[in-house]
Amino acid sequence: VAGREVARRQRIGILRRYRASTSVRFTLLHVLLSLACTIPVLVYVYEQVDAILLSEFTRPLEFRQSNLDKQFRSGGIPKLQSEVESRAARVHHDQTAILLVDPAGRKLAGNLADWPRSVPVSDRWVPATLEREGVGHSEQFLVRSKELPTGHRLLLGGLLDNRAEMQEALLTALIAALALAVPIGLVGGLALARQMNRMVAAIGDLGEHVSAGDLTRRADTDGSGDPVDRLKSTLNQMLDRIQKLVEEHRVLTDALAHDLRSPLTRISMQLAGASPDCGSHDHAARFEMIGQEIGGVLHILESALQISRAEAGAGKESFEPVDMSAMMLDLYEIYGPLASAAKVRLEFEGEGGLVVHGDRILLARAVSNLIDNAIKYGAGGNVIFLRTERKMGEIRIEVSDRSSGIPEDRRAEALRKFGRLDHARSTPGSGLGLTLVNAVASLHAGSFELLDHRPGLRAVIVLPVNRPT
Ligand SMILES: Nc1ncnc2c1ncn2[C@@H]1O[C@H](COP(=O)(O)OP(=O)(O)OP(=O)(O)O)[C@@H](O)[C@H]1O
Ligand SMILES: [Mg+2]
Repeated sequence: VAGREVARRQRIGILRRYRASTSVRFTLLHVLLSLACTIPVLVYVYEQVDAILLSEFTRPLEFRQSNLDKQFRSGGIPKLQSEVESRAARVHHDQTAILLVDPAGRKLAGNLADWPRSVPVSDRWVPATLEREGVGHSEQFLVRSKELPTGHRLLLGGLLDNRAEMQEALLTALIAALALAVPIGLVGGLALARQMNRMVAAIGDLGEHVSAGDLTRRADTDGSGDPVDRLKSTLNQMLDRIQKLVEEHRVLTDALAHDLRSPLTRISMQLAGASPDCGSHDHAARFEMIGQEIGGVLHILESALQISRAEAGAGKESFEPVDMSAMMLDLYEIYGPLASAAKVRLEFEGEGGLVVHGDRILLARAVSNLIDNAIKYGAGGNVIFLRTERKMGEIRIEVSDRSSGIPEDRRAEALRKFGRLDHARSTPGSGLGLTLVNAVASLHAGSFELLDHRPGLRAVIVLPVNRPT
């Protein structure tokens, strides 16, 4: 008991650790997934907004540039130079950097002292730190420069302070969104992990109770049909089946012990009663009774063994073609004298050459049981019919009598292990015969039925003609 308790604790420990580690893994996975979804969206939003801000920023500069181009086209360098000069004069209320230099790089006009070395001549807007004349400190600009057909170069830039602020604000907002995704992912992941744990725990709980011996325990299903619910129903069905098997097993063992006790008691009484002074006649009678009792015991044991082997599906590998027509004829001949002794007529009718794939000994045992029953319980009807026929790919083997039969509501009981009806109490038997017939029919992928013969019992074994798979 102590060992079992330790094993149980260990199991619970493992379950808890597993639970903890899966929760952690699950939650982390959830956080990573929500980050993986958020980051690309945020990057996209950032780039789009940045592009819009840039175009908003450069649009007036582009306009100014095209104005300067127009001046150059209409009046050449002198006109352009005077235009640049007038722009540069407005340095304090204009946020523009402007410079015109000649092909040698000398300043012609503008508000910069000379051409900034960091600015290449290119069509793209580039950031640059410039110091405008009269301002006294350097500022951040976005500039673009251009070479004119005359070799002169023109630089135009806009003050960046506004844009930098907006960019910063945008970045802050996006980082805040990202920071929010982590706790949201964490909470969501934990909630999901808890839900999952609850489901796993319910099943683990069931397993613990069942392994502790409570086979009546079942998982609660909600009938939703989702995979977890289906898993629970399957477990419940499995437990139903196990419980039924365990119960049947227990009944069989109990009944077997009970049924073996009476003949063994009688044997031991016979042996105890035999004293050395008894005559040889007395001994012979006792031996005969002991022999009969042992025969009964062996019959019970053999039936019980064959039933459990057939129910377990054992022996299929030794199946062979069995001519049922020939077997029925043999049985008809073997049981003829027994039937006559019981004052009942045995009749046989059937097609020849009906072959099934099966176990010859078990099939013969099953049919013998039915004939034996008909002689034991149906002799009152004066006739017993044996019939074999082929019908729609099946072979039907029938044994019927004209006696009282079994009422429909008692047939299930007669089929049960050790099930004997009241009228049979005075006849020897163990109540395993029909169970064996049923088990043999199932082993051969067939079926067994008790029907009404009006009057009498009609026992029918149906077997497939084709090789059962
Ligand atoms: N042909 C029949 N007519 C009336 N009752 C029957 C007939 N066959 C079987 N029964 C009833 O069904 C019960 C179960 O039959 P089953 O063959 O399983 O057991 P048994 O004949 O009593 O014992 P066993 O066959 O193990 O020696 C019988 O005890 C009997 O009450
Ligand atoms: Mg029987």
